[in-house]
Amino acid sequence: MNTLIKNVSALLPDGEVKQGDIAIEGNLIKSVGSVAEDFKPDKVIDGSGKFAVPGFVNAHTHASMTLLRSHADDMALMEWLQDKIWPVEDKMTEDDLYWGAMLAAVEMIRSGTTAFADMYGPYVDGIARATIDSGLRGILARGIVAVAPGAYEKLEDSVRLYKTYHGAENGRITVMLSPHALYTCPPEFIKALADKAKALGAEVHIHMSETEGEVKDCLKNYGKRPFAHVESTGLFENGTLAAHCVHLDDEDIGIIKKYNIRVAHNPGSNLKLASGIAPVQRLLDEGICVGLGTDGASSNNNLDMLEEVRLAALIGKVQTMDPQAVPAFSAIQMGTEFGARAVGLKDVGRLEAGCKADLVLYSTEGPEWHPRYNLVSLLAYSANSGSVDTVLVDGKLLMEKKQLLTIDEEKVFFEVDRCAKHLMND
Ligand code: NI
Repeated sequence: MNTLIKNVSALLPDGEVKQGDIAIEGNLIKSVGSVAEDFKPDKVIDGSGKFAVPGFVNAHTHASMTLLRSHADDMALMEWLQDKIWPVEDKMTEDDLYWGAMLAAVEMIRSGTTAFADMYGPYVDGIARATIDSGLRGILARGIVAVAPGAYEKLEDSVRLYKTYHGAENGRITVMLSPHALYTCPPEFIKALADKAKALGAEVHIHMSETEGEVKDCLKNYGKRPFAHVESTGLFENGTLAAHCVHLDDEDIGIIKKYNIRVAHNPGSNLKLASGIAPVQRLLDEGICVGLGTDGASSNNNLDMLEEVRLAALIGKVQTMDPQAVPAFSAIQMGTEFGARAVGLKDVGRLEAGCKADLVLYSTEGPEWHPRYNLVSLLAYSANSGSVDTVLVDGKLLMEKKQLLTIDEEKVFFEVDRCAKHLMND
């Protein structure tokens, strides 16, 4: 399937906006700007009045936690997890995880997200099925809480998931291994997981240094700060996506650089759970790859990456008391190109020839898009995701003119309400 987007404003990797056409051949961008005369499209999209941007990469989420949205708010992280989240999660079936992930998919597509790095369980097959059905790009992982029973069976299941889904759907699905966090996984378990990851060639996804309490407890229990402690298990030798990284000192940053650890910054979740503000401008200055994530929909409470872009830019400024910190284009890069790199995707997150055709067309008709001095500024600081009009992943249309093409939205809402009933009542 070849697609031609005509007469569109396209955001280039260097931050410039170019007026022209975008040719998509199969799942790849063939050209941006001018198009070869012999290019034969099967489908032509009128891009006039539209802003073409790489699709957002949600670098850290728990998609099926949409099922817990608004169930419990305004609580501290550990109390919230132990009293409100884990007891309901224990009841979740594969069917629940499928419909939760489908609800997330509706929300992600409608808000311009084309890829998501997920950490959840136990039934990742349900999440994989939702990824296949929705057409989104998924970087899936079974998050293992090893202090609960059956940790090593969960690890074996993670190996099975890797062998089953890594590279599936023409590379649209990849798989990571995931110890949930150092406070839910003893070091000997993290070491066992690191060994499995190494044997498979798999990368890892873990929560790191989210709260001050986590750092204090780690020092108390292991005599080391979180990064030094996890380094001693060998986990970081596999290629690591570390979510949060709020509480960092120079030693932590040194370890992040040493292993090229990629950071998923989750400003909305960090604010809501009062975890703190990650030193994002410092990380960018150090050359560390920082992507953006929403975290789960029950600590955010939505999956809207444009909100994370804006929050990252705003709290990056207040954290440094410098209005030049985390400028608009840097925040958009964190949501797109850097996020793609953070989750281990090559050739994703940039509108240029040879990259995967994962892109979003924003309608610039609304008042928040006028006057149009600077489309990058308008996207980061003024627009909302209601102006997402058309979404393609891997060259395939998932939404056109706000109509979802792969998902029956009404059925998803009906099934999610059914799942929520049984989770809260059984
Ligand atoms: Ni998380």
